[in-house]
Amino acid sequence: MFIAGCDIGSLSAKAVIMKDDCIVASSVIFARPEPGESARVVMGDALEKAGLTMEDISCCVGTGYGRNGIPFARTVESEITCHGKAAQWLKPQVRMVIDIGGQDAKAIRIDETGKVVRYAYNDRCASGTGRFLEIMAASMGVDLDAMGDISSQAKSPVSLSNQCVVFAETEIISLINAGRELPDIVNGLHKALSHRVASLARSIELDSEITMTGGVAKNQGMFDALQDALGVKLVRMDTDPQIIGAVGAALLAGQKAAGNG
Ligand SMILES: Nc1ncnc2c1ncn2[C@@H]1O[C@H](COP(=O)(O)OP(=O)(O)OP(=O)(O)O)[C@@H](O)[C@H]1O
Ligand SMILES: [Mg+2]
Repeated sequence: MFIAGCDIGSLSAKAVIMKDDCIVASSVIFARPEPGESARVVMGDALEKAGLTMEDISCCVGTGYGRNGIPFARTVESEITCHGKAAQWLKPQVRMVIDIGGQDAKAIRIDETGKVVRYAYNDRCASGTGRFLEIMAASMGVDLDAMGDISSQAKSPVSLSNQCVVFAETEIISLINAGRELPDIVNGLHKALSHRVASLARSIELDSEITMTGGVAKNQGMFDALQDALGVKLVRMDTDPQIIGAVGAALLAGQKAAGNG
């Protein structure tokens, strides 16, 4: 029996197809303006990779900010529920998940079954999100993929005083003009963002077994900086951290298809 999860986020759309507790195929694309179109394209891509059609999927659960626009989702669940579910399934020892996506950052505490016990999130402003990093990378002329490597070469990281995206962008341009090294600026940026996310996580009490999910976890510089800011060694996902929400949705689809959820 094939089951699927579809996560339509603010910046990216993700689809995962599973069978017998194994991930058969997945896909990540940039989100389109219309959630239904994102869903069709990303699921179409995952189905093609798996050599399947939608008729082969017994149940699909949708999640993410565009979840109500997914035409083929039997039901929808919050991203918080999905990240918690998948994190526990992939790394059973994990009790806290920090998901940093394009539009918000979330700290989620889960129990040994993956059920959410507490959470906090920041979706009020871009300053604690992946979008913040994207804007800063663009203003420095740096590729997002290269941020981690550049950050690791820092010798004397800058300390950023502005949280607001607009002011931080101006500050970064001033630092470049003042001759500060790019690695020191990128590293300082990661530190600033990590401190914001760490205080969000502290607001619901830290656990010693924490993992990082969402697209920003692909940035090694952010992974390291968050580890430092929390003072905890993070549990690393072996699966692409960006698809974790879709994996959780697929697991919930499996429960529904089996009549347990
Ligand atoms: N290859 C990469 N290297 C570094 N960072 C990356 C990479 N790919 C994505 N990102 C980061 O991930 C962010 C998007 O994360 P994600 O796909 O989890 O967001 P989303 O689910 O669409 O957003 P949200 O959950 O807030 O609605 C981007 O803003 C970017 O900072
Ligand atoms: Mg997301």
